[in-house]
Order: sequence, then C-alpha cells, then structure tokens
Amino acid sequence: MNGGRRWQGGHSQRRWLVGDGQRRWLVGGSQRRWLGAACAGLLAILVACERPHSIQHGFRGLNTAQLYTSDKLASVAELNKIPVAEDPADPDSPMATEVFKNVQVLNDLSATEFSRLMQALSTWVAPEEGCDFCHNADDLASDEKYTKVVARRMLTMTRQINTDWKAHVAGTGVTCWTCHRGEAVPSGDWFAAPDLRGTAGMLGNRAGQNTPNPNAGGSSLPTDPLSTFLITDNNIRIQGTKALAGDNIHSIKQAEWTYSLMMYMSNSLGVNCTFCHASRALEAWDQSTPQRATAWHGIRMVRELNSAYLIPMQPLFPVNRLSAEGDGPKVGCATCHKGSYKPLNGVSPLTDYPVLAGVMPPPVAPGASAPASKTTSYSGSKDTSTAALGTFHTIPAAAGAK
Ligand code: HEC
Ligand code: HEC
Ligand code: HEC
Ligand code: HEC
Repeated sequence: MNGGRRWQGGHSQRRWLVGDGQRRWLVGGSQRRWLGAACAGLLAILVACERPHSIQHGFRGLNTAQLYTSDKLASVAELNKIPVAEDPADPDSPMATEVFKNVQVLNDLSATEFSRLMQALSTWVAPEEGCDFCHNADDLASDEKYTKVVARRMLTMTRQINTDWKAHVAGTGVTCWTCHRGEAVPSGDWFAAPDLRGTAGMLGNRAGQNTPNPNAGGSSLPTDPLSTFLITDNNIRIQGTKALAGDNIHSIKQAEWTYSLMMYMSNSLGVNCTFCHASRALEAWDQSTPQRATAWHGIRMVRELNSAYLIPMQPLFPVNRLSAEGDGPKVGCATCHKGSYKPLNGVSPLTDYPVLAGVMPPPVAPGASAPASKTTSYSGSKDTSTAALGTFHTIPAAAGAK
C-alpha cells in the first residue's frame, strides 16, 4: 500500500489519503453538505449576476471591445432624453432688436424666435423658477440678476461651440440642455482641487497625489489633472518613440499626470482606454481610433471654454457658487458627456433650435468683447518630436492654480 491510494474510515470520516499519510482532500460528511450549499450559492450568484455585454468597437483582434451592463445602458438612456421642443415661431415678425430694449447677443433673431428661445432657456436651465430665474418680472430688460448676465455669455459660448468647434461637436452640436439638463448647476462642472501638498503630516509631501481621486476613477493618481490640462496648453504626451532610452526626457511623474487625465476622460465618456487607443502603443496615432482625434479637438475646445468664458465669468458668480478655496466653476468632458460617448446618445438637440448654430452676431456688449476665435490644427502623429512636445508645466504649482 505504500505510495498508493487507500480508502479509510467509517461513514462519517472518509478520507482520501495519498502516499504515506499525506492529506490531499479532507471532507467529512457535514463539511460536504456545507460545500454543496456553498457551490449552489455560488452558482446562483453567477447565474443571477449579469455579465457585461462586450461590443467590438475597432478592428477585430485588437481587443478594442467596450463593456456595458444593462443597468448602465438604462441609466444612460434615461439621462439622455431631450425635452419636447416649443412650437415653431411665426416667421413674419419684426426683429427682436426693434421690439425689445436690451438685446445684445440674440440681435439676429426675430422677436417671435427670440421669445420661443426664452421659453426653451427656462426649460433647459430653470424649469421651476422659469423666467424669474433670470429676470425681474417687472422689467425684462434689466440686467440686475447675475443669472441673466451669465446666461448671455452662455448664449455666445454655445453659439461658438456650434460654429467654431465642429471638429469636435460635428453637426450634432449642443444646446444649453446638453450641459444643464434642467438644472441651473450642471453635473460634471469642476473646481481646482485644494492644494494637497504637505497634508500627509509627518508622512511627508503628497505632491498632489496619493489620495483617492474621484476624477481618476478612485485611483491615487494626481488629484487635479483638470486644472493642469483643461485650462492651458500643457503637454499631455509623455511616451518615448524608441524602445530604449533616447531623447525622451519625460518623467514618471509626468506620466502619472497624463494617466490621471486619461482616467478622467474615460470615465466621462463611459468607455475604456481602447475606445481611443490601441493599448499596445498608446502614443501611436496611426494605431488609434478616429475617436482619439475627436478627443484631441475636445481637449482644445474645453481649454478655450474655460479660459475664454468660465474663468473670466468667475467674478459674476456669488460666493455660494465658488469652491471653498474661492475657485470658480469650470467645464470638463463630463459636463457635456455625462457618461455617454456621444452626449444625448448622439441625437442632435440643434435640429429644433438652429438659431443656436447661427452666424455669430457681432459682439455689442459694453466692455465684454467676444473672445477672438482661435484656429486649431490637428497635428497628428508627426507632432512627436521633443521640440513639438513643448515644455512641461511645474506640476505642484499648476495643481493649486486658481
Ligand atoms: C436662463 C436665463 C433666462 C431665462 C430663464 C429667461 N430669459 Fe429672457 N433673457 C435672457 C437673456 C440672457 C436675455 C438677453 C439676450 C440678449 O442680450 O441678446 C433675455 C432677454 C429677454 C427679453 C428682452 C427684454 C428687453 O427688452 O431687452 C425678454 C422679453 C425676455 N427675455 C423674456 C423672457 C421670458 C418671457 C422668459 C420665460 C419664458 C425668459 N425670458 C426666460 C435670459 C433668460
Ligand atoms: C458646455 C457646458 C455648458 C453649456 C452648453 C451651457 N452652460 Fe450654463 N453653465 C455651465 C457651467 C459649468 C456653469 C457653472 C455652474 C456652477 O455654478 O457650478 C453654468 C452656469 C450657468 C448659469 C448660472 C446658474 C447659477 O445658478 O449660478 C446660467 C444662468 C446658465 N449657465 C445658463 C446657460 C444657458 C442659457 C445656456 C445655453 C445658451 C447654457 N448655460 C449653456 C455649463 C454650460
Ligand atoms: C476619448 C479618447 C481617449 C481615451 C478614452 C483615452 N485616451 Fe489617452 N489620449 C487621448 C488623446 C487625444 C491623447 C493625446 C492628447 C494630446 O496630445 O493633447 C492621449 C494621450 C495618451 C497618452 C500619451 C501618449 C504619448 O504620446 O505620450 C497616454 C500614455 C494615454 N493617452 C493613455 C491612456 C490610457 C491608459 C487610457 C485609459 C485609462 C486612455 N489613454 C484613454 C485620447 C484618449
Ligand atoms: C460642449 C460639449 C462637449 C464637451 C465639453 C466635450 N464634448 Fe465630446 N462630444 C460632444 C458632442 C456633441 C459629440 C458628438 C459629435 C458627433 O455627433 O459626431 C462629441 C463627441 C466626442 C467623441 C466622439 C465619439 C464617437 O463615438 O465618435 C469623443 C471621443 C469625445 N467627444 C471626447 C471628448 C473629450 C475627451 C472631452 C473632454 C476633453 C469632450 N469630448 C468634451 C460634446 C462635447
């Protein structure tokens, strides 16, 4: 029997013994019942738990699948409904500028089209307060409420997105609803994170990271990729183009900041990295999806929205709209996308309100000239020389930037 298997024991103590008494499998009768129950439980959990649907998004064989659960799809569908549009305006109507007293931005609209848009602004931004949210009901021409002054800038901003940023928003475009969804403060707005340097006490300097970061998927990646990359033109590219150390002078720290931004972008769009990249060569444009080029334009668009609109508007906002550190609200990818890779699931909200994609009216606001529109060019894969990458920002200073 030495070295062979042996059956041992009575009805409650059967064991397989292997070799000279070495225990391999030890199950008594009652333990076996527990094991059976545990297996049945596990099976029930596995059957009850939904497996995510995997949707092939790029070329086959490149593992560019995106994963979705029915719950997630249902919540995205619910969030992306568009309110019923107002009835079309009577085309035979005098111009708004002839009828009203203080029209500075919508001066290319007829009075009826103007009023129709006012109804829509209420639905999009302040459905409960209605006109009173922006107006003194006794004097609609008055600019006494800051909300009206902000809304006027937002009208210009929305029109600029729809006309100058077609490289990102295509013909689909945006309305106030894309961001606001019936709320004065849209979801997905953001503020500079408090400067975390020194907050680890005796443990030392956190250097703006090493704390759970909701913007970076709960990871401990740098806390404020948004102030760093979504306001000014800081360089996002860090990867070398050669296998061995060469002329790539970027540090691991810079890579961490880039990854933090990438986590934020992925979360905002409800996708994973392979929506835009081939994960075997994250830097290579010729192996990336077309969506990466759209995202490239999106980054530039968001920088302009923040630097030309949201940041200059900061003095208009009351204290309760600022962060504890006094920073003003800003726009990010999530402000429009809200977890879907095309806002409003790709339906164009502009179809019913083409006036928001109309020709930009000349700015006439006293003291508030419209921002000069910038021309952007897509530099693609050629833009990878060290010179073209530009100099990297000083991370801690940018992280605390107000
Ligand atoms: C989200 C803010 C907002 C809401 C809500 C809003 N308005 Fe306005 N309203 C504006 C802005 C901004 C202007 C100025 C537009 C411009 O300068 O071109 C304006 C201008 C007007 C004017 C022109 C007044 C004048 O004589 O210059 C009228 C009339 C008007 N709104 C009516 C309404 C009515 C009626 C409602 C409700 C159905 C409404 N508005 C809801 C922001 C709003
Ligand atoms: C790209 C996204 C975006 C679009 C499009 C947009 N907004 Fe905004 N809006 C914001 C953000 C971000 C804020 C700041 C919210 C905060 O206080 O945190 C804001 C604030 C406002 C406020 C001030 C609300 C308050 O209670 O302080 C008004 C009014 C407003 N928007 C009106 C409009 C109108 C009208 C339009 C369409 C013409 C529009 N917005 C389009 C992003 C957007
Ligand atoms: C929505 C599209 C999109 C998603 C999703 C995305 N990226 Fe990116 N990624 C970009 C774009 C665009 C750039 C270049 C940005 C620029 O140059 O302004 C970039 C740049 C990078 C770079 C720098 C490449 C270089 O040349 O040095 C790395 C690394 C990277 N991404 C990693 C990731 C990772 C990891 C994920 C997932 C967590 C991810 N990305 C998700 C669009 C995306
Ligand atoms: C002002 C609203 C707005 C903001 C802010 C915004 N986007 Fe978009 N984005 C859109 C719209 C609208 C579309 C749909 C365009 C279309 O129909 O082709 C879109 C499309 C995209 C697509 C293409 C999706 C596809 O399937 O083709 C990507 C990728 C994308 N956005 C990434 C980003 C990233 C990354 C950011 C932040 C840096 C961002 N967007 C910020 C409005 C926005």
